[in-house]
Amino acid sequence: MLLTKEAFGEDFIWGVSTAAYQIEGAHNIHGKGLSIWDVFVQKRNKIFQNHNGDIACDFYNRYTEDLYLMYRLNIRNYRFSISWSRILPDGTGEINPSGIDFYNRLIDLSLELGITPWVTLYHWDLPHTLDKKGGWLNRDIKEWFGHYVAICVTHFGDRVKNWMVLNEPTVFCATGYFFGVHAPGKKGIDYFLAATHHAALAQAHGARIIKSIQNDNTVGTTFSCSYVEPFTTREKDIVAAKKADVLLNRLLIEPLLGMGYPTSEIKILKRIEKYIKQNDEKDLKFDMDFIGIQNYTREIIRHATFVPYLQAKIVSAKDRKVTTTAMNWEVYPEAMYQMLKKFSAYQNIPPLTITENGAAFPDRVENNMVDDPKRIQYLQDTLEQVLRAKQEGVNVKGYFVWTFLDNFEWAEGYQPRFGLVYVNFQNQQRIVKSSGNWYANFIK
Ligand code: BGC
Repeated sequence: MLLTKEAFGEDFIWGVSTAAYQIEGAHNIHGKGLSIWDVFVQKRNKIFQNHNGDIACDFYNRYTEDLYLMYRLNIRNYRFSISWSRILPDGTGEINPSGIDFYNRLIDLSLELGITPWVTLYHWDLPHTLDKKGGWLNRDIKEWFGHYVAICVTHFGDRVKNWMVLNEPTVFCATGYFFGVHAPGKKGIDYFLAATHHAALAQAHGARIIKSIQNDNTVGTTFSCSYVEPFTTREKDIVAAKKADVLLNRLLIEPLLGMGYPTSEIKILKRIEKYIKQNDEKDLKFDMDFIGIQNYTREIIRHATFVPYLQAKIVSAKDRKVTTTAMNWEVYPEAMYQMLKKFSAYQNIPPLTITENGAAFPDRVENNMVDDPKRIQYLQDTLEQVLRAKQEGVNVKGYFVWTFLDNFEWAEGYQPRFGLVYVNFQNQQRIVKSSGNWYANFIK
């Protein structure tokens, strides 16, 4: 297969993705309120070497040079997220004019450079004030979120035409409310189920609000997904893999498509009904214009008697002795093909766009250059799988690399580097990696 940009067709969208908390820094200036991440990073031993996103890539102050760099690398679509607490320091109530001003400047300069903005409304940085009222555990979040979305669309919707409501709801509900390893650090099955239902409600509600303000907008939302396979062909492992598939791939897309929650494989999930009110099921459904797929790897699952609720566990890539990235995720590009096939098999599924894909490797600076052949290989191999799916008829419209700049990788701090551009966090110097030049050339 000849991998060229042309093979994907003229309309195929090529871009890069970032998220506010991971790059902006400027965490407490110009009227910004605290987010749950600003608070979570202050707790000891939650984040690798107690790193935090206070400064991150200082994108808030350096967005001009970063956008020019993006332009020079031929990138014409930029997915970024808006920090809710920069717009509404308390989550609701007073608008912070400096926050509006920052995103206005970012959007205007992008457009001036011919870069189309793709805006995610929520990439995990909930205003801390709302967390104090329960955050995603409080059903009122549907209205709080709707109010914030309306403000964003009213202020930016004249120029922003592509919106994504949530970033990976399953991930922030699981890591933030079940495992407690991400903000706000809560642990428990009931927290997880409540957060999941409220996120699903907010997702459809947010999309409705965007459309009600501007009907010509393109509206989507994004889902994490991993290709799941059983460890052996034993029945028990197959059952375990099916359960993992529900959690990793099906839990949030199915209610959105009007299929309800997939509760039949995992008994405990039925408990979500506790949080469901009359009419909710109908409200969970929304016809998105596109679905964002975010895939990085596959997971091998085996039966595990002692794992509560699931009796299933991931067989780590390390134990399987396969090639991994710096996240210890298996390098398995075919996962992308499998996920495109899986999602496109749903009835009434809208077109798919790959809103994130990429890899962290231990990059090193030598002679002021960063040579990262493994990342180039990863991107090429994954794109081949995207093309394979496309040629088999999957309606996939675009591909965004995660990510533009090395950044704050949540609980892993600054250690894993995912960027096409290397960032020296001591002096904020940017160095385009070989992969950045490769991508620039590929999408030219
Ligand atoms: C998230 C990003 C994250 C990336 C790599 C995705 O789950 O949306 O914020 O940095 O994966 O871990």
